[in-house]
Amino acid sequence: MAGGYKYFEAVEKHAGLLGILTAIMVSIGGLAEITPLFMAAHTVKPAEGVKPYGALRLAGKDIYVREGCYLCHSQQIRALRAETERYGPYSVAEDSVYDRPFQWGSKRTGPDLARVGGKYSDEWQRLHLRDPRSLVPESNMPAYAWLSQAMLDPADIEARMRTLRTLGDPYTDADIAGAQAAVSGHTEMEALIAYLQGLGVANMPKTAAAGTHATPEAAP
Ligand code: HEC
Repeated sequence: MAGGYKYFEAVEKHAGLLGILTAIMVSIGGLAEITPLFMAAHTVKPAEGVKPYGALRLAGKDIYVREGCYLCHSQQIRALRAETERYGPYSVAEDSVYDRPFQWGSKRTGPDLARVGGKYSDEWQRLHLRDPRSLVPESNMPAYAWLSQAMLDPADIEARMRTLRTLGDPYTDADIAGAQAAVSGHTEMEALIAYLQGLGVANMPKTAAAGTHATPEAAP
C-alpha cells in the first residue's frame, strides 16, 4: 500500500510526467468515444419512411440552399406545445439524416417549414413563390418568379449523388443512372416545389398517430 503511494507521489511531484500521463489518459478516453463514430455509416439512423432525396428533390434542396430560404425559415419544430400545435410533431435528428447541410436554422422571419409538405397544393406554392403578396398580402417574403424560367442543369446531379453515397446515403446505381433523366427538362421552380412538398411528410403519419410528444425524452 505504502509502496504504491510512492508512485503516485512521484507522478504528482513531476509536472512534466503528470502532463504526459494525463495526455495519454485523455487520448485513450477520446479515442474510445470518437473511433466508433468514424466506423458507423450513420450515427443517427433515419426515421421510418425517411429516404434519401430523389434526383429532382435533391436539385430542389440545392436551390433552397442557394436562395438562402433558411435565412427566414427554420426546419426545426421545437418540443414546445405552441410549436407542436401549430406545426405538428416536433423534429428529431432522425428526420434530417439525409440533409447535408441540415436546414434546421434558428431564424424565423417566416414560419417553420419542417412539415410544410402537402400543406398547400403545388399550384399554391408556385403562385406564392412567384408573388407571395398575391396570396398573403402582408407577406414580406421576396418573390422568386425567375425560378419558373430557369431550367435545371442536369450536368452534375449524378456526381452529387455519388458524393452523397460516399458519405453513406444508400443510393443505388440505378438511382444515379436515372438522375439526369429525372431532372432534365424541369425548371428550378418545379424542383423547389417537389422539395417543399416532401418536407416532413415521410414520418408524419406515424408520429402523428402516436400523438405529439410532450417532452423531448419521449422521442425515439
Ligand atoms: C425575407 C424572409 C424570407 C425569405 C428569404 C423567404 N421567405 Fe418564405 N416566407 C416568409 C414569410 C414572412 C412568410 C409568411 C407570409 C407568407 O406566407 O408569404 C413566408 C412563407 C413561406 C411559405 C408558406 C409557409 C406556411 O406554412 O404558410 C413557404 C412554403 C415559403 N415561405 C417558402 C420559402 C422558400 C422556398 C424560400 C426560398 C426560395 C423562402 N420562403 C424565402 C419570409 C421569407
